[in-house]
Amino acid sequence: MASAERGQTKYQVNLRRYLRESGVDRDLIRIICEIANASKYIINAIRTGDLGVAGTSNLYGEQQLALDVLSDRIIQKRLMFSGVVAKMASEEVDEIVEVTVPTNGRYSVAFDPLDGSSLVDVNLAVGTIVSIYEGDNLLQPGRNQAASLYVLYGPRTTMVVSTGNGVHEFAMNQLMEFDLVQENITLEGPARIYAPGGLRSKYTEGTEKFVRSLEASGTKLRYSGGFVPDINQVLIKRGGVFMYPHLNGLPSGKLRLLYELNPMAYLVEQAGGAASNGKQRILDIEPEGLDHCAPVFIGTQESVALAEQFIREQEG
Ligand code: F6P
Ligand code: MN
Repeated sequence: MASAERGQTKYQVNLRRYLRESGVDRDLIRIICEIANASKYIINAIRTGDLGVAGTSNLYGEQQLALDVLSDRIIQKRLMFSGVVAKMASEEVDEIVEVTVPTNGRYSVAFDPLDGSSLVDVNLAVGTIVSIYEGDNLLQPGRNQAASLYVLYGPRTTMVVSTGNGVHEFAMNQLMEFDLVQENITLEGPARIYAPGGLRSKYTEGTEKFVRSLEASGTKLRYSGGFVPDINQVLIKRGGVFMYPHLNGLPSGKLRLLYELNPMAYLVEQAGGAASNGKQRILDIEPEGLDHCAPVFIGTQESVALAEQFIREQEG
C-alpha cells in the first residue's frame, strides 16, 4: 500500500487511487468521489460567501439559497446521477428521496450536507457528514454501514473516511483533489481533550460527575460548537471525548442518529474508539425514523466506558 506520513509526504496518493488499491468496491468509490466533487462546490460557496438568507436575491437577480440548502442540492444532484445510488436521506429533507434516473442502485446514502451551517457567519469550521449502506434500507442500525466519511471545511478542506478498513485522512490540494495525509488514525487511552455540547445546567447527575472527573484529571476543554471539527479534533489529536448528552428536558439530546451519530460512530469505532448513548452502543440502536435523536458520548474507549459507568451509577 502506498502511504504518506503526515507533514512529510513522500509522494501524493489521491483518494480514488487509494480506495482502488485498497480493494474498495467500484460503486462505493464512485459515491465517495461524488462527495469529494460536491465538496469543491460547497467549499467554493462557503468561501465566496453566498452568505444570503434563503429567499433573497444575489447580484444577478437570481434567487439565493442558504448555504445548507445549496449544499443539499449539490450533493443530491451528484448522487442522483451517480448511477449507483438507490435512495438518499438528507438532513435538509423530511422524507427519503428516491433516485428517479436509471441506476443500478446498489447503495443508499444518508447525509448532513452542511452541519453547523450557522457557524459560517462567525467564520468557524463546518462540515459535510455522509453515511453509506449497501441496499435500499436507510433505517437500519449503523453497524451495517458500508462506509462513512466527513468533509471538514476549515483553514484546510479535509476528508476523513472509512470503508471498514481503518480511518484515513485526505486533504484538498491546489487542484481541489484529495491527497492522502495519513492512514489508520487510532484513538487510545484516556481523553486528553473534551468537547461538551448542550447546556451544563441541564446535565443529569451522571454526565455532571463524568465532566467533573474529566476536569479533575486535567482534560482540556476544546469545544467549537461544530460537530465535524469537534470530532475531527478528537480523532486527529488521537485521544479525546465529545458528548452531546441527554439533558433535563431533552432526554434524546440534539444530534441525529442517521445523519450525524451513526457515521461518526462508525469512524470512531474504526479508529479503535467507542460511541454510546450512555447505556448502549450507538451503532446498535434501531432507528425509529429519519429524525431519531440520541444522546452521545464518543471518543476513546476508556472515556466512553467512564461516562457509561457514571451514568449507570447515578441514573441506573
Ligand atoms: O447539527 C447540530 C450542531 O450544530 C452540531 O454541529 C454541534 O455539535 C451542535 O449542534 C452544537 O449544539 P449546541 O450549540 O447546543 O452545543
Ligand atoms: Mn447537523
